[in-house]
Amino acid sequence: VHFEVADATKREFPEASFDVVYSRDTILHIDDKLALFKRFHVSSWLKPGGQVLITDYCCGEKPWTPQFQEYVKQRGYILYTPPQYGKFLQQAGFSNVRAEDRTAQFMQVIQTELQRAAAMKDEFIKGREENASIGQTQSHRHKHDSSRVTTVTSAR
Ligand SMILES: C[S@@+](CC[C@H](N)C(=O)[O-])C[C@H]1O[C@@H](n2cnc3c(N)ncnc32)[C@H](O)[C@@H]1O
Repeated sequence: VHFEVADATKREFPEASFDVVYSRDTILHIDDKLALFKRFHVSSWLKPGGQVLITDYCCGEKPWTPQFQEYVKQRGYILYTPPQYGKFLQQAGFSNVRAEDRTAQFMQVIQTELQRAAAMKDEFIKGREENASIGQTQSHRHKHDSSRVTTVTSAR
């Protein structure tokens, strides 16, 4: 396995490089989704018979509430409904496209995470308090160290 940080809209790969393209919750940041999907298919990053699996944030039909509009704008997301998303993949040349709305499953995951966070809240806060007091001790020590450390402290 080879890991790399790159801009998916700019990175080039030789033809037939991959069996699968998998993307998790990232394409919401990319404006021209059709152009990106064409890179997967028409520019042939995938091998013949290759597959794409994407999870991403989507949206409901407009009109949106002002709060949701503001949230999307502030986050810089470019969102489409699941059917619109699927159409982009078809337009890029993919067949057997399944665009599924997994909102109910996502809500369940979030609820479980919320319950887990609530259950460990006291332990978490205690850990943070302990870390903060260690930080204070170190910061106190740094003030009495060299001038280089003092500069770092004042930069904060
Ligand atoms: C919501 S985070 C998801 C991160 C990770 N995939 C996960 O599921 O935890 C969105 C990620 O998309 C990345 N991203 C945004 N635009 C990108 C682009 N053009 N090419 C590659 N990554 C991009 C951001 O750097 C960020 O790490």
